Amino acid sequence: MWAACTIEAFMDTPIEVCETRDTKGMYAAARRGDVHNFTGIDDPYEEPLRPDVKLETVGATALVNAAATTEIYTHLAQMAEDLEAFGLEDYSHYETRILRTELNWKLVIDTFLETYHLSVLHKTTIAPILHSNLTAFDGMGRNLRMIGVRKTVGALRGLPEHDWDLVRHSALVYVLFPNTVFIMQGDHLETWRVYPGKSVDEAVMHVSLYTPEPTVTEKAKAHWDRNMDLLMATVTNEDFPLARNIQRDFHSGAQATITFGANEPALAHFHRSIPDAVGQGA
Ligand SMILES: [Fe+2]
Repeated sequence: MWAACTIEAFMDTPIEVCETRDTKGMYAAARRGDVHNFTGIDDPYEEPLRPDVKLETVGATALVNAAATTEIYTHLAQMAEDLEAFGLEDYSHYETRILRTELNWKLVIDTFLETYHLSVLHKTTIAPILHSNLTAFDGMGRNLRMIGVRKTVGALRGLPEHDWDLVRHSALVYVLFPNTVFIMQGDHLETWRVYPGKSVDEAVMHVSLYTPEPTVTEKAKAHWDRNMDLLMATVTNEDFPLARNIQRDFHSGAQATITFGANEPALAHFHRSIPDAVGQGA
C-alpha cells in the first residue's frame, strides 16, 4: 500500500529543552522581547495531529529515531536510488516564489506531464531547449518519473555509452504524489509544491530553485535569476492561460465525456492514482 509522498515530520522537543540547547541566544532574545513572532514564545506552536514521522529528541535513542526515519523511504521506494544519485545534500536553496492562479491544483501538475505541447505552446521559450517528441515514463507506485530529452543530447553521439552523462542532457520530472513536482534540470533542481486554494478552481504554488553550489558571485546570481524569471514567464504567460481555457471548457458542459491522457502515460498514471488514493479506484 502506498502512502502520499508529502511527509510531515514532527521533531518533538519541549520548549524548555530547546531553550537549553540554544547556542545562538535566539530564545533568550525572544524572551526579552527583542525578537517578535518567535514560534513557541509569542507565536503559538501547533503540534501536528498525525505526523508521518515523529522524532523524540528527549529520552529516545538515536536508533529509535533512525527506525522512524527509515519509514520515509517506504514513501519514496523505487525512486530512492535516483534521488540518492543526484547528491542533493550538496545543493543550496536559491529562492522560493509563491504563485497563485485560478486553476485546480491537479491541472497545474498536469502541465508538467507531457512534452507534445512544447513545440506548439512554448515555441520560443522551452522548445529550443527540449525535444517535444521524446519522453520516457515509469510509474513508481503512485509516484512517477517522466524524462524529457534536451537537444544537447546529440553531443553524446560518437561517445562510448559509459561516458554518457544522461542527467546533463535531460529534464527529469518526478511527481512525488500527490502534490509535489520535482524536476532535476541537469545543472539545477526545481520543486513545485502545489496546494488547493480557497476554492476548487484555485491553486497556490511554492516554487523553489536549488543550485549545486551556493551562489556567491553577482554573475551566478544573474544566471539563476534569469532561470527563475524564464520559468515564471513560461508558466504564467503560456501554460496557465491555456490550462484556464481547458478548465473553463470543462465547466461549460459542452461535452458529456472527456478522453484524457490517452497517449500520455504520465498524465494517465497521475489521474489513476488520485481516485485510487481516495478509495475510488477501479
Ligand atoms: Fe508547458
